[in-house]
Amino acid sequence: MEIDKIQTAARIINEGGLVAFPTETVYGLGANALNPIAVAKIFALKERPSFDPLIVHIASFDDLKILTNQPTDLVLKLAEKFWPGPLTIVLPKSSIVPDIVTSGLPTVGIRMPDNEIALNLIRTSKCPIAAPSANKFGNLSPVSASHVKKQLPHVDYILDGGRTKIGIESTIVSLEGNICTLLRPGKITIDEINNSLPDLFVFRTHNSTALISPGLLKSHYSPNKPLYLLQNNQTPLPDHSGLILHSKNDNIQHGEKVIYTSQNNNLLEIAANLFSTLHAMEDDTQVKQIFIEPVIEEGLGIAIMDRIKKAVYKYNPSL
Ligand code: TXA
Ligand code: MG
Repeated sequence: MEIDKIQTAARIINEGGLVAFPTETVYGLGANALNPIAVAKIFALKERPSFDPLIVHIASFDDLKILTNQPTDLVLKLAEKFWPGPLTIVLPKSSIVPDIVTSGLPTVGIRMPDNEIALNLIRTSKCPIAAPSANKFGNLSPVSASHVKKQLPHVDYILDGGRTKIGIESTIVSLEGNICTLLRPGKITIDEINNSLPDLFVFRTHNSTALISPGLLKSHYSPNKPLYLLQNNQTPLPDHSGLILHSKNDNIQHGEKVIYTSQNNNLLEIAANLFSTLHAMEDDTQVKQIFIEPVIEEGLGIAIMDRIKKAVYKYNPSL
């Protein structure tokens, strides 16, 4: 990435504009996190409800200390272990963080992305950057610059870093004392966190009555045409079906459009290709409905099935 593109993007951030940029997970729609007017533009462009707080992206541990009051040793250990990387930590916010960023919550979600363009943008802008995924609220997450353009054609600037490496959003945890609660599954699993920091008690959230994190919404990440889970003996599928599979299958029916996320159920490949295959099916005018194979809910499969279940929920709320 040429330095002048980063400088242009940083100037736009400093002037209160919006820049879409790659991270290792998905593309983000960024604004200066300390400028409430700029942050308000994110909610407007995404058509995002104001109750859904944003993640603040940082490039140094000093920024962590500015955004949250006196991080504990455990917070620092957790951050040092997984940053830069796909882990968002929800912590008590300092007064410098505008309420619009956190939707009025007393906590703020913070992460240091593992992507040179993102880190360079934050360093050059000299401010933390608030950024949700760069899509319209509820739609498919973007894993390439063209996915961003499709949904947000009026964004001020896009830094094109090619396809993102991981392909699904960061793991989100909150940390209170030594209690760590998983709010959204991602590439970093509960077991990994537990194993690397034995002092922590790590919990998975159950469907609690309180909406602790809107990341727990049941419906999210949906394509603009019906999407269903592929049930075992469901063949033959209706005409004009798109089929998303995760391993080579010789049993394909004539007339089905098939896209593989992986040839051999490789979970890293499935995660990396999940949203781009859904975008491709969304863009294909021949495809009237999409069927997607489930994956086993273990390890990274938990996060992949979380996204798939939320994507199909809109069309099949009984699941
Ligand atoms: O990988 C990612 O996390 C991507 C990239 C761009 O960093 N970002 C992302 O942002 O997925 P977004 O806005 O699409 O999802 C962030 C989730 C939201 O569901 C939000 O509710 C939750 O994080 N969140 C943010 N701050 C929170 C807080 N203080 N407490 C609880 N949940 C929070
Ligand atoms: Mg999102």
